[in-house]
Amino acid sequence: MESAKKVVLAYSGGVDTSVCIPYLKEEWGVDEVIAFAADLGQGDELEPIRKKAIEAGANDSLVDDLIQPFVNDFAFPAIRVNALYEGRYPLSTALARPLIARRLVEVAREVGADAVAHGCTGKGNDQVRFDVAIAALAPDLKVLTPAREWGMSREETIAYGERFGIPAPVSKKSPYSIDLNLLGRSIEAGLLEDPMVAPPEEVFACTASIAEAPDEAQDIEIRFECGNPVAINGDRLDPVMLIKQANLLAGRHGFGRIDMIENRVVGIKSREIYETPGLLLLIRAHQELESLTLSAEVLRTKLLLEQKWSELVYQGLWFSPLKDALDGFMDRTQIDVNGVVRIRLHKGNATIIGRGSSQNSLYISDMATYGKDDNFDHMAAKGFIYVWGLPSRLWSAARRR
Ligand code: ARG
Repeated sequence: MESAKKVVLAYSGGVDTSVCIPYLKEEWGVDEVIAFAADLGQGDELEPIRKKAIEAGANDSLVDDLIQPFVNDFAFPAIRVNALYEGRYPLSTALARPLIARRLVEVAREVGADAVAHGCTGKGNDQVRFDVAIAALAPDLKVLTPAREWGMSREETIAYGERFGIPAPVSKKSPYSIDLNLLGRSIEAGLLEDPMVAPPEEVFACTASIAEAPDEAQDIEIRFECGNPVAINGDRLDPVMLIKQANLLAGRHGFGRIDMIENRVVGIKSREIYETPGLLLLIRAHQELESLTLSAEVLRTKLLLEQKWSELVYQGLWFSPLKDALDGFMDRTQIDVNGVVRIRLHKGNATIIGRGSSQNSLYISDMATYGKDDNFDHMAAKGFIYVWGLPSRLWSAARRR
């Protein structure tokens, strides 16, 4: 256990972070706790959350709207990277953590705190992301993590909170552990812990089931400039509105659900359900435009580095030298990613049906065509293949000797 005089606590309004407030003061001797909550488009009412921290004994309670930086500095870079952890999870939760950590550190500096705190438990990824991000941004700042150390069961935590006027969570609370923000939702625990059990419909909130999804397909068009999505169906939208619109469109057609077993940083496998309709749609579209506009070698190299970038972000290394270096590569590739992608949304699917780029397409018709306009030199292929295949020919001949 470490202690401090003045602490800024990352606050969500949940029982664990609420209990952290009296716990830090009573058990760890902290003089002043300042709660800090971030609006990341999770749709919660933030004023009640702000008040809740005061009622739990916080000396001050701050709420910041971080939606713009969340989208501009975290979601859009992830789209440009086509970031998918283990090939599937678009990092909707992971991307929020370095931003919260960044602001937490700023607030700590502003109010002259000597520590920050969070309510993460000891087996998740979020503790890693907070701790490492804070360490990278402010190596001198202490990080207090009461929920990781107090060893109380859920029931004990609730009972402890009640002693300090923190209301127990409303009666039949959800058996699931849910994290949400503008980019999507993650759902864990309860019956989902059995990897063979199908997720019940009740766990989903922003994607339609296949049954509910419209019978009629909907074709949409997404425009990108330098790798950033800028318009849907010809309407230019600011980044936040664009994500919201993508969520609505994809969600309505039941696209964006993920059910996977993923490898956590702390070494355990966990069963995760996600719904990230807009983010996944934009990544799919973006990948498609890159297939048209990036050269073969850039595309293939980027594919390898995308995986590395996604691992770094998942593992809490947003602020790290390798991530910075990869960003340099990623940014350079995106200069050429301009154009549009057409997608058909229907019953849980987002099928690419077209792509185009007036400035940057590397698809050359008179090379690609099988028709009469073909300008490809077929005879040149012969010499090329002779040289290309020479090592195989020589190897085979040597082996036969
Ligand atoms: N497994 C996901 C991730 O590591 C989701 C984590 C959800 N976090 C939470 N506190 N419920 O990014």
